[in-house]
Amino acid sequence: MQRKNSKIRIVITAGPTREAIDDVRYISNRSSGKMGYAVAAEACEAGCDVTLITGPVSLPIPNTGRARFRVISVESACDMADAAIPAFRNADIAFHVAAVADFRPAKRVRGKLKKKQALKDGNNRVTLELIANPDILWSCGQIKREGQILVGFALEASNGERNAREKLRQKNLDFIVWNDPSALNNDRANVTVLGREGERIPIRDTKSRIAKRIVSLALERWRHLQQQQIPKQLQTPRPRRSRSKR
Ligand code: CTP
Repeated sequence: MQRKNSKIRIVITAGPTREAIDDVRYISNRSSGKMGYAVAAEACEAGCDVTLITGPVSLPIPNTGRARFRVISVESACDMADAAIPAFRNADIAFHVAAVADFRPAKRVRGKLKKKQALKDGNNRVTLELIANPDILWSCGQIKREGQILVGFALEASNGERNAREKLRQKNLDFIVWNDPSALNNDRANVTVLGREGERIPIRDTKSRIAKRIVSLALERWRHLQQQQIPKQLQTPRPRRSRSKR
C-alpha cells in the first residue's frame, strides 16, 4: 500500500489566512487548521507524496516520517494562491481545506497605523476598505486536467447542502466536504461529503477519522479515473472462462 501510493502527488491547503491592515494588525478567522493537518497526516500515512500549504496555525507539523512530505508556510490569501495554483499543476489530487479570507484591506499601511491618523474624520469611526481576494479553489478548477481530483470544503451556516452543491458545480470539484461552523476549532466534526457523481456520505467523527475516509475516497476516485484513461487494449485482460468442450 505504502509503496503503491508513493508516486501520487497530493497538495493540501490548511488553516486561516491573515490579511494585513498594517505591519502589526491583520484580519483573519477562527480556523485552527486541524482538519487540513489531519488530511495531510492521512495522506502521509497512505504513503503519498504530500505538499502541505499552510496558513499560520499553532499545530505540530504532521510528519509521519513515512512519505515524501514538504511544507510551504504562507500568510495571506495571495501568498497561498501563489503557492497552491502552481502546485496543483503538478498534482494528482488537491484538498483545499484552508479557510481563505475572501477579502483583504485595499491598502496595507507600512509601519503602524496611528489612531489619530485613522480617526481623522473626527466622528469616532474608522472605515476599512476591503477588496476581494483570488478564489484559489476556483482557479484550480479552471486549470484542472482530466484525471486530476479536486476536493473543496464548504463551511455553511444555513442552506448548507444547496450552497455546497452549488460550490461543487461552480468550482469544478470532484467532491465537496460540507460542514457547519461547529467544526471550527473542534476535534470532531459533523460533515457530509457530496460528490459530482451524486454521492452523499454523512460522517460524524473525529477529524482524523473523517480525514482518513476523505483521503481514501479521493484515492479511489483517482484510481478509477486512471483506469478509464488507459486505452482498452492496454488494460489488464479479464481471465477468460475456459469453454467446456461440447
Ligand atoms: N476558497 C479558496 N479561495 C478563496 C475562498 C475559498 O480557495 N478565496 C476555497 C476554500 O479553501 C474551500 C472552498 O473554497 O475549499 C469553499 O470555501 P468557503 O469559504 O466555504 O466558500 P466561499 O467560496 O468563500 O463562499 P462563501 O464565503 O460565500 O460561502
